[in-house]
Amino acid sequence: MSDHSLSDHPRRLRPTTEVLTRGFDPTLSVGSARPAVFRSSTYVFESPEAAEHAFNLMAGRTAFNPGEQVDLVYSRFNTPNAQITEDHLVPLEEGAAAALVFNSGMAAIMTALMAHLKPGDALVYTVPIYGGTQHLIEDVLEPWGIIGVPVVAGETALIAQTIATTPKLKVVLLESPANPTLKMTDLASAAAAAKQRGALVMVDNTFLGPAFQHPLLLGADIVLYSATKYLGGFSDLLAGVAISKDPAVLAPVRSKRSLFGNILAPDECWILDSRLPTVHLRMNKQSKNAQRIAEQLVEHPQVAKLYYPTLFTDPEQLRIFRSQCDFPGAMFAIELKGGKPAAFQFLRAVKLARNAVSLGGVETLACHPKSTTHSGFSEEACALAGVTDGLVRVSIGIEDWRDLLDDFTQALGTIDSLA
Ligand SMILES: Cc1ncc(COP(=O)(O)O)c(C=O)c1O
Repeated sequence: MSDHSLSDHPRRLRPTTEVLTRGFDPTLSVGSARPAVFRSSTYVFESPEAAEHAFNLMAGRTAFNPGEQVDLVYSRFNTPNAQITEDHLVPLEEGAAAALVFNSGMAAIMTALMAHLKPGDALVYTVPIYGGTQHLIEDVLEPWGIIGVPVVAGETALIAQTIATTPKLKVVLLESPANPTLKMTDLASAAAAAKQRGALVMVDNTFLGPAFQHPLLLGADIVLYSATKYLGGFSDLLAGVAISKDPAVLAPVRSKRSLFGNILAPDECWILDSRLPTVHLRMNKQSKNAQRIAEQLVEHPQVAKLYYPTLFTDPEQLRIFRSQCDFPGAMFAIELKGGKPAAFQFLRAVKLARNAVSLGGVETLACHPKSTTHSGFSEEACALAGVTDGLVRVSIGIEDWRDLLDDFTQALGTIDSLA
């Protein structure tokens, strides 16, 4: 938003500096050190000529001059708070040049896909994928004429082959790690295969980004987020983000957002923006906590299996994790001996972790995927995704890890006493 932006400095600043210094110009907010909220639904033009020019630019009747942006016009198209938040998101995503904010993660995914697909085009996507995304593909995009081609996450050669052989391929949508067992897909390999076909690569980076996985550096064109999770960080906000290294790739997404009216509202932008400077701090602490807890819980006699990147045993999964992720992240899934009764008892017995879906907040959450997030999955789809009766998914927060470990251990002890 500002002509005085530090990002104009020849040396690019590091993300944790730029998120606090880029874009926002206090002189445009009566000197306020942090952004104000601009709730206006419409903006006053300097002149009728400026209004005419803005509409010509938006409609593509007039070409942009280098560095030119459309003036603020109407809040379904753009707002100061959306612009400020987008300016602060860019440095957080390595390799990014432009960002767009949406009123949910699903809104970001839907808008990006609808902007880059038309009836008759094919979309290759990894499964398991977030349930909402799967419904969107099967219940909206396929009836609309898109050919959806699912491919099993983590199968590097099969994914490359599917991308190479799918007719009319336009978009490849990858989600890594997959929910809830954290199966990882080799993003660079899939992106290289997609480039050969001239297809666009989108990556849902909600589980590990922006701190620990950087898809734009691995060849992705658009990175998508449920900002409801780590970016928002406090489980009190719904938001979504699309980020790209190429503003031209986001241009059609921006114009669909203006039509759909799913831009993030000014108050929500203000909240999300205030959370961005701490996303690295929170994610680092959450990941360290999760690693300490997971690596001890795996030894518990009630635990049949614990899914966590540092505990992967499959060499290909370990290779992908080590080459693709900076840290293992704050999610793990515990396969309990004793099936559903054991899983439900564990969820009843935990005192610190809350039994809720969602993830990425500063508070620890746990849920039973088979009866909640994955309850719409068929038995085959559950088996493919590793969703069993005894599986509990955990999102670790910023509490003291020793208290959480004690809590999980006492909860596991109550299962034992049931037997
Ligand atoms: C990986 C992933 N992508 C997308 C979404 C959808 O995000 P939202 O709930 O913000 O629409 C979720 C929500 O849980 C998710 O886990």
